[in-house]
Amino acid sequence: MVEPIYQSTKLQREKWIKEASFNLFNLKSEQVVIDLLTDSGTGAMSDRQWAAMMLGDESYAGASSYYNLKEAVKNITGFDYFLPTHQGRAAENVLFSVLVKEGDIVPGNSHFDTTKGHIEFRKAKAVDCTVDISADTTTWHPFKGNVDLEKLENVLKANPAEKISCIIVTVTNNTAGGQPVSMSNIREVGKLSKKYGVKFIIDSARFAENAYFIKIREEGYADKDIRDIAREMFSYADGMTMSSKKDAIVNMGGFIGFRDEELFRKASTFNIIYEGFLTYGGMSGRDMNALAQGLYEGTELQYLESRISQVALLGTKMKEYGIPVLQPFGGHAIFLNALEFLPNIPREEFPAQALAIELYTEGGVRAVEIGALMADRDPETRQNRYPELELVRLAVPRRVYTDNHIEYVAASVRNVFERRAHINRGVKITWEAPIMRHFTIALEKL
Ligand code: F0G
Repeated sequence: MVEPIYQSTKLQREKWIKEASFNLFNLKSEQVVIDLLTDSGTGAMSDRQWAAMMLGDESYAGASSYYNLKEAVKNITGFDYFLPTHQGRAAENVLFSVLVKEGDIVPGNSHFDTTKGHIEFRKAKAVDCTVDISADTTTWHPFKGNVDLEKLENVLKANPAEKISCIIVTVTNNTAGGQPVSMSNIREVGKLSKKYGVKFIIDSARFAENAYFIKIREEGYADKDIRDIAREMFSYADGMTMSSKKDAIVNMGGFIGFRDEELFRKASTFNIIYEGFLTYGGMSGRDMNALAQGLYEGTELQYLESRISQVALLGTKMKEYGIPVLQPFGGHAIFLNALEFLPNIPREEFPAQALAIELYTEGGVRAVEIGALMADRDPETRQNRYPELELVRLAVPRRVYTDNHIEYVAASVRNVFERRAHINRGVKITWEAPIMRHFTIALEKL
């Protein structure tokens, strides 16, 4: 789809962001010039996807669109059993209703915030076992999203298997900067999961981008097809959750993949309660058809090459201007290091949020804070958690913007960077929700 771009002035944006309580999620889309809030559900569907929608079968049970999607899921992931859900967090909700109980532990690389939310909501604990190098924003490492196998094994050793709901590996590792996880790391996690008798689930939102990085960075994969790489990744796991709004390039949709029938059967009951009957689960027939087609398009090498190099173009421009960005560049986004960008703002004043506000008022670019606001409070102590990295994410929607738009974004960031010495104060929280606060938070500028 071709969509309009809305122009505005700095003066208008200053007024709008104040009315939005300095929370970028509260802005109307017409108040945004270039929207890099997320790459989730914001992609442009193809001619073939729109055509597939016309053939959607809207039968309540047994729709052909369901079988179409089931076949695509089997082809792309290798999983025999699957449940459709309306998006990724719904897949988490259904699967965790079976796997996660109070007092459990869920180790993995960095859990995405909805994943962590679903775990903590069930009074279980998400343990982040990401490699230490992921917190180093400049050293080049091909797979900064990896699980630290020693940290993971220590958790598995220290706790009985029945206390561990499952291991979750998120590919690519969104929270750590869209960094990929290597095949050998996924394989080793698979071995540990078998050794300790714990299930291994892949949070697959950006599995195709991860497969692309494996192809170009990991020895032995240069000549392999993206789909073969993806199937190998999944072959080590017992199941997967998918937010189809990312690498399957649809505006809404998700699913769960299972290797064994028993887990599938248990989850099916929750799918019926929360999502809908097993053959639609929160999606219409036309949505399932678009998703099936999107799974094939999202795993095409040429598409992935152009997508990931467009994201890298933004990163390269940032580097050219001397702006501190996370390196290597993420697959779906460029992450600005707010602690270096705005060193005068203390952490208690949320420098990444302050930077996101500046980027918006400067050029109407909407980004998202991935720092202390998103990290929320510790569920036990209720103290603010300050993660090692305080980032602003510029997520690039798929097949939406031209390189010219990317240059505009880069120029806007540079303008803020040039006046960074004069940005000394951040924000204060005036209202927050008890969980997942960053979506609805109200702030005041200091
Ligand atoms: N897992 C990962 C790794 C994600 O990035 C997301 C969503 C989800 C699960 C949840 O999926 O939105 O379909 O319910 N990430 C979006 C983002 C919102 O902006 O990164 P969902």
